[in-house]
Amino acid sequence: MKLFSSFITLTLFSSLVLSIMTLQVKQANADEIKGNANAAKSKVAMCIGCHAINGYKASFPKVYDVPYIGGQNAKYLEKTLKSYQQGDRKNPTMRSVVSNLSDQEIADISAYYSQQNSNTSANSIK
Ligand code: HEC
Repeated sequence: MKLFSSFITLTLFSSLVLSIMTLQVKQANADEIKGNANAAKSKVAMCIGCHAINGYKASFPKVYDVPYIGGQNAKYLEKTLKSYQQGDRKNPTMRSVVSNLSDQEIADISAYYSQQNSNTSANSIK
């Protein structure tokens, strides 16, 4: 009987812990980083050097076509930049470009590029 009641106590306790953990996860999602396109303006000079040139190819370590990223979905850009950073997507140029960016900077840059469209000149928002 004693064993049974301690089992019940343990079960109740673990479900309490679990629900607190779930609450914290929800809280963390609510605090999700929001990108600020204007804050990215000072950070994209380097990107423009490759991504704003029509048909531009980067030649190191082999020839890569540089994709046009203006108008791409912000969440997609954010995910892609993080996958270069974490090495899940491999490209030595992009990896070094994003290696020192914070999550906030990635969110800002992603917001910036997502606000463009195919008519935006030189990948810049006015
Ligand atoms: C030296 C040239 C160069 C610079 C500078 C550069 N990129 Fe890139 N970027 C590339 C190349 C080449 C690729 C394609 C790599 C591949 O195939 O994965 C690429 C790919 C990307 C992609 C993936 C696009 C897709 O849809 O697959 C994103 C997003 C991106 N770059 C964003 C940026 C941002 C933001 C910056 C500035 C912080 C930047 N890049 C700076 C050359 C560059």
